[in-house]
This record gives sequence, structure tokens and C-alpha cells, in this order.
Amino acid sequence: MSKVTVVGAGFVGATVAQYLADNNLSDVCLFDVVEGLPQGKALDMMQAAPITGHDCKIVGSNDFGDTKGSDIVVITAGIARKPGMSRDDLLKTNANIVQSVAKETIKNSPDAIFIVVTNPLDVMTYLTWKTTKLPSSRVIGMAGVLDSARFQTFIAMETGYSVQDVRAMVLGGHGDLMVPVTRCATVNGVPISEFLSPEKIDELVKRTQNGGIEIVNLMKSSAFYAPGRSVAQMVEAILKDQNRLLPCCVYADGEYGLKDVYIGLPCVLGKDGVKKIVDVKMTAEETEALKKSASSIKENVDLMNKLLVAV
Ligand SMILES: NC(=O)c1ccc[n+]([C@@H]2O[C@H](COP(=O)([O-])OP(=O)(O)OC[C@H]3O[C@@H](n4cnc5c(N)ncnc54)[C@H](O)[C@@H]3O)[C@@H](O)[C@H]2O)c1
Repeated sequence: MSKVTVVGAGFVGATVAQYLADNNLSDVCLFDVVEGLPQGKALDMMQAAPITGHDCKIVGSNDFGDTKGSDIVVITAGIARKPGMSRDDLLKTNANIVQSVAKETIKNSPDAIFIVVTNPLDVMTYLTWKTTKLPSSRVIGMAGVLDSARFQTFIAMETGYSVQDVRAMVLGGHGDLMVPVTRCATVNGVPISEFLSPEKIDELVKRTQNGGIEIVNLMKSSAFYAPGRSVAQMVEAILKDQNRLLPCCVYADGEYGLKDVYIGLPCVLGKDGVKKIVDVKMTAEETEALKKSASSIKENVDLMNKLLVAV
């Protein structure tokens, strides 16, 4: 059985752990700084095993030693957004948390692939890459799977067609400047422009860009069902070497005209992590939008570097 460590036993982390175990995908070490929290959640999940019928071991821990030998480390540790907070407001607090978590987990699992979830996502993924010093193919951020799922959900709701037939990709940073590639969105291969007016498509794009905050405003805390499920899809793609083509936060080194930045791009996920970034031809407008998104991420990386030095 593979071993996945999930750091942060909060809403997203626990949802990831539960899905992995329920689907018999891996043993899970659920780690948190709060004493008792990961142990209690792990025990609760283990008690669901006789009902779901899985054989996975779920262990809760406050000791990094228990994360040893993980195949995948998922980082969800940090604070989440409250109403009125942008993802970037989280920058300083979460940079310190993610840096310390990355240092401790890489010591215990030098062969792991890292999936970062903590916001601001693109910046935290870059920080994890820098801290672990791993090849960039083994440090990946989760955002594109979630943002694409949100866009697909809205398309299905608006057209009335089954969500199972809707495909769409959202690229760029995980923030207001994300880039839903409407040209490639289809209902079973039929472009969505056949079913929806340009105005309606624009409306769905805006709703996708505000997908996270819409939920924060409703329930006064951050989303976790769809985020947790999105992480699990990436974990599954890696553990089963599925070669899934998914939008993930990856290190661009010239692809799409972008350099030295972690940003959402289509990539192939399998046992080695990112097997390749798929360089799809973009329109001038899409390329411009990706560049704008990349500059905003780079500004935040610079800000983070200053804040980390200042601590
Ligand atoms: N990338 C995405 O698409 C996406 C989607 C949803 C949430 N998020 C982000 O994921 C993060 C987690 O969200 P959540 O809703 O699960 O929050 P949460 O508050 O429920 O859970 C976070 C957990 O991290 C723990 N933690 C804090 N510092 C720690 C440390 N040093 N080591 C280990 N654990 C530590 C906390 O005790 C808490 O249990 C947030 O930053 C949120 O913004 C990202």
C-alpha cells in the first residue's frame, strides 16, 4: 500500500484523507500541530472502514517522524480565507507555515512527490519547490483541477446538460487573474458557444474566477469538498500512473513564453509527478492573460521573499 501524508488535518486535509481511504488508494498519515485533532479524525475515519470496506491505515500525528517514507506529501497546513480576505492576505502567515512544513517533511520523505494546496497557491508551490530543492516535476500545486471543475459545474447548470459531458480547462494563477480557456470548453466535443451566448459565457467565467469567494461569503469559511476531491484526483493520477492531462500549478521554464514561475498549465500527471507540460497553441488574448497572471504571481513571490527575510 502506498503512503500519503496529509499535512493539515483541517477541512481540506481531512476531506483528502477520507477520499483516499474510502477508495482504497493509500495509507494516510494525517498530520497537524493541534494535539488530538489528527488522531481524533484518523480514528473516526478508521471506524468508517468496516462500513466502506477499505483496508487502508489512517494514522493521526503531531510528530513529523510518523510521516517517514511517504510517497506523496499533501500540504494543506495554514490559515484559510475569511470574508473580506483575499488569498494574498494569507501570504505571510502561510509562507512561514509552509516553509517549516516543507523542511520537516522532505527530511522524512526525500523520495516523495509534493502536492501543495495552501493559499496563495502558486506562491506556496514555488516556496515548497525552493525549500525542498526537489526537481520541479515533483512539486505540484492544486488549483486548476478545482477551478476547471467549478467552470464545468456552471456550464452544466446553465446548459442543463450532464456535467459528465462537460470538459473545460482553467489555466493561469489561482486568483482573480485565472484564465478559463473558453475556446476549449465543450459539451462532449461541441463548443459551448453553440449553446451559450458570449455574454452568458463571460458571466460563467466571472463566476468561476470568484468561485472561492462565493462560497466563503455564503458559509463564512473556505470551500473543502471540491478542493479535497481535486487533490485526490491528482494523488490517484500519480499513484496509478494514469497519464492524466490535468491543469496543475507547475514550474514554467519557457513554456507558454513564461519563465521561472509556478502557474497553472496543462500537464501530464503520472508516477514521476509531472511527466511533461503540454504546450498548447494559445490565442494572442489568452497568451496575454497568462502573462498578466504570471506577473502578478511573480510580484507576490517577491513580496513573500521580503516577508520571509524580515521574520
Ligand atoms: N488550492 C486551492 O484550490 C485551495 C482550495 C481550498 C482551500 N485552500 C487552502 O488550503 C488551506 C487549508 O484550508 P482548510 O479549509 O483545510 O483550513 P483549516 O483551517 O480547516 O485547516 C488548516 C489546518 O492546518 C493546521 N496547521 C496550521 N499550521 C500548521 C503547521 N505548522 N503544521 C501542520 N498543520 C498546521 C491547522 O491546525 C488546521 O487544522 C488554506 O490555506 C486554504 O486557503 C486552497
